[in-house]
Amino acid sequence: MRIDILTLLPATFAGVFDESILGAARRSGLIDVRVHPFRDYGEGRHRTVDDAPFGGGPGMVLKPGPLAAALTALRQDGLPAPVIGLMPQGLPFDQTMARELARLPRVILVCGRYEGFDERILPEFDLQISIGDYVLTGGEFPAMVVVDALSRMIPGTVGDPDSVREDSFYDGTLDHPQYTRPATWQARGIPAVLRDGHHSRITDWRRGEALWRTAAHRPDLFRQLDLAPRDRALLQDALSPLTQSNPDKGA
Ligand SMILES: C[S@@+](CC[C@H](N)C(=O)[O-])C[C@H]1O[C@@H](n2cnc3c(N)ncnc32)[C@H](O)[C@@H]1O
Repeated sequence: MRIDILTLLPATFAGVFDESILGAARRSGLIDVRVHPFRDYGEGRHRTVDDAPFGGGPGMVLKPGPLAAALTALRQDGLPAPVIGLMPQGLPFDQTMARELARLPRVILVCGRYEGFDERILPEFDLQISIGDYVLTGGEFPAMVVVDALSRMIPGTVGDPDSVREDSFYDGTLDHPQYTRPATWQARGIPAVLRDGHHSRITDWRRGEALWRTAAHRPDLFRQLDLAPRDRALLQDALSPLTQSNPDKGA
């Protein structure tokens, strides 16, 4: 998959996609991230890309002309791709969106700065994405978040596909609790079921815990789950005092 990022601060991305899973995915050609300096499309001798807001007020606004020029150039350079504006007013970014975007051969991410984009450029965006209800200084961190999240959804980027499928949000639940050695740490043990090597019991326990956690921590997500009778039974088990070995439950 190819990901083009248009930004006023290309240096921000130096090294970010070089390490770990993203670095390996780039080296193996699973993802091809290209960072484009928006300033190259600025107007005049000073390559101006922003101006004061009509009507007054603080800050600067990104001019529509340079953005349109940049998008025209990017669209012509490669496969057709949706243009995605990163902006606080956009649709909330989530795992479902990451999965859908990861199916595309290419996306173009546009990072804003200052007070944001001139409203008249918005029809050029096929999608507007927000990474949360807070305002960052620019779209660079949101672009990194989007690239990281959707890279994990591309088959082959994460070595063990089960790891992705068991992650929080993939099937609408939160992840189950994880433990590693030592089996006892500061007088805190681990659930006995994880030590008996019985795989189906472990799978059931994990499913029950994932459901319990989702109900406890994210009732909004839990309400959207379509629980099978087996899920209800596993959830019941997770709530039973006999299985309350998770310190999170206060046992
Ligand atoms: C300071 S913000 C502009 C905020 C804008 N005046 C507003 O209140 O909606 C500058 C840029 O950062 C990016 N940005 C900030 N917060 C973001 C968020 N939560 N999600 C996605 N992009 C964000 C956008 O690209 C935005 O154009």
